Amino acid sequence: MKTVAVVGTQWGDEGKGKIIDLLARDADIVVRFQGGNNAAHTIVVDEQKFVLRLVPAGALHPGRTCVIGNGTVVDPIALLNEIDDLRKRRGFDTKNLKLSYEAHMVMPYHRAIDQARERRAGKRAIGTTGFGIGPAYEDKMARVGLRFDDLTNYKAFEDRLRRNITEKNAYLKSVLKAKPVNGADIIETMKRERRRLLPLLCDTGEFLASAIAADRRLLFEGAHGTMLDIDHGTYPFVTSSNCVASGAFAGAGLGPRMLEAVLGVSKGYTTRVGGGPFPTEISGYLADSLREEGGEFGSATGRPRRIGWYDAVLGRMAARVNGLWGLALTKLDVLTGIDPVKICVGYQYKGSRYDTIPPGRHSIETAKPIFEELPGWREHLTPVRSFADLPRDARRYINRVGELIGVPITMVGVGADRDATIVLTNPFTA
Ligand code: IMP
Repeated sequence: MKTVAVVGTQWGDEGKGKIIDLLARDADIVVRFQGGNNAAHTIVVDEQKFVLRLVPAGALHPGRTCVIGNGTVVDPIALLNEIDDLRKRRGFDTKNLKLSYEAHMVMPYHRAIDQARERRAGKRAIGTTGFGIGPAYEDKMARVGLRFDDLTNYKAFEDRLRRNITEKNAYLKSVLKAKPVNGADIIETMKRERRRLLPLLCDTGEFLASAIAADRRLLFEGAHGTMLDIDHGTYPFVTSSNCVASGAFAGAGLGPRMLEAVLGVSKGYTTRVGGGPFPTEISGYLADSLREEGGEFGSATGRPRRIGWYDAVLGRMAARVNGLWGLALTKLDVLTGIDPVKICVGYQYKGSRYDTIPPGRHSIETAKPIFEELPGWREHLTPVRSFADLPRDARRYINRVGELIGVPITMVGVGADRDATIVLTNPFTA
């Protein structure tokens, strides 16, 4: 197959970065289509850790073209800093990076609004990353956002930026009782950095369509996860974009027939950061040890992640909404030594059993998970490179997950390093 999307099937942090990095070896172009620097893909190369927030994971493979599509919201300064870091540490060449003219900018006032709202919400806070993502998408939908193509007419851009700063500062001061942003600083920074941004701009939809016509291999890099999707996730504890596979069409400017396979990524257990319902959540010693063993602290914010068992009800929902072709099950090594291992196979809600999420916005808050217990394993999985060499009970666990969600398991993650993945089927060579 030539066009493949990778999406998270849980609340983000499923280990997509490593899977995308692995598939990027076989791709010519890697494309981000939604979200902003609230995403963080961690990839370990030669024991060096890289956290990519905006630049697609292809950047770690020389010669790949990286595209940031129109569906993203991009903090221009965060992007420039990330490019500088990649250039220094990896010799990354910006000729290989294309940023959509139509992508929207995240400005300092978006961050200020995001953080002030979260502070004021207290216990009702969403637990956002605080990077201004929601407010930037609000401006896009309200048709007052600033797009990168606006930089091509700097005078008009500056006028609109000034207007936005005035309005947002009034809102920050009088409604949110927060400190206004320094407008002069923002204008000065944009005037200075504009020259570095302009060469990156591209009609990325046309570029990708030509690449497909030329038989190039495209990898669409989903950020966050299905349960954080603005429509299909645990609203309002979600992010402000469509993280599901169909987001790739609007967010990269292509039609649905252009995508041949969608690979979902799940951890062998579940994590989430921020507030919101989490039916299989656990606490205490087991949660603490999984958090330590799995390094479950947010890559973007450093916050400790909440921990739970694998939830096949959510897995089934993710399989449906993304049209999954296969599933990569990551971090199986973290479950070593846990016996028994539990999987949520259904929910009990208002006296009935459900195999899907019960209807109603609040059902997931009170639905009780029904668990199945499977025997654990003691062997270290990290050196294993073939499915047949995995311990019998680990294989049984993996197969059971696939069976419960109705999707073949095509990859298994057994460690943090770039090569610690068992590939059963590679969508680019299948
Ligand atoms: P926002 O995207 O910063 O607005 O945050 C909204 C919700 O999505 C919060 O619960 C965040 O913790 C969560 N979130 C956003 N990005 C990620 C991610 O990449 N991984 C995990 N959670 C995320």
